Amino acid sequence: MPTKILPLIELREISKRFGSGSTRVDVLRDVSLHVHPGELIGLVGPSGSGKSTLLNVIGCIVEPSSEQMHLDGEQVYDGRWLRGDLRRLRLEKIGFIFQWYNLLPFLDAVDDVAVVLDLAGVERSAARRPRARVVGIPGHRQAPRRDAGQPLGR
Ligand SMILES: Nc1ncnc2c1ncn2[C@@H]1O[C@H](COP(=O)(O)OP(=O)(O)O)[C@@H](O)[C@H]1O
Ligand SMILES: [Mg+2]
Repeated sequence: MPTKILPLIELREISKRFGSGSTRVDVLRDVSLHVHPGELIGLVGPSGSGKSTLLNVIGCIVEPSSEQMHLDGEQVYDGRWLRGDLRRLRLEKIGFIFQWYNLLPFLDAVDDVAVVLDLAGVERSAARRPRARVVGIPGHRQAPRRDAGQPLGR
C-alpha cells in the first residue's frame, strides 16, 4: 500500500461572493481543489474570472463565504477562520512571489524573497542557500543583482 500523501492545499466547495442584493457578485462557486506537495499548478482564465480572489482565499487574505479549507493537513476554515493568528499561518505556510509589483526596489532578488525568512526569525547565514534555491539560482553565494525595481526572471 503506498503511503497516502495529504494535499498541501485542499478546498472543498469554496464559494466567495462580494456585496449583497442587487450588487452581489458570485465570484467563486463551489470550487474544490487539491494541490499535492511538488505539484505546479497554473491558474488560467479571463480577467475578472476570480483568479486573484481564489489566490487570496488560499492565502488566507480574503475570507470565503462558505465551506471548508485545509492547508498542510490543518483545517483552517469551516464557515469561519479556525485560527486567531492568521498572520502567523501566512508567515509559516504561504508565500507569494511577485514578478513585478510588490517587489522591494532596494533589495536584490534573493533578499527580496528572503524577507519572509527574516520575519520568521531564521538566522541569516543558515537561510542564505535555501533562499538562493527558492529563486532558482542554486549554488550562488552572492545574490545576482538586479537594478532597483526590475522584475524577477524574464
Ligand atoms: N473586494 C471586492 N469587492 C467587490 N468585488 C470584487 C472585489 N474583489 C474582486 N471583485 C470582483 O470579483 C471578480 C473577480 O475578480 P478577480 O478575482 O480580481 O479576477 P481575476 O484575478 O481573474 O482578474 C471581478 O468581477 C471583481 O470586480
Ligand atoms: Mg487578478
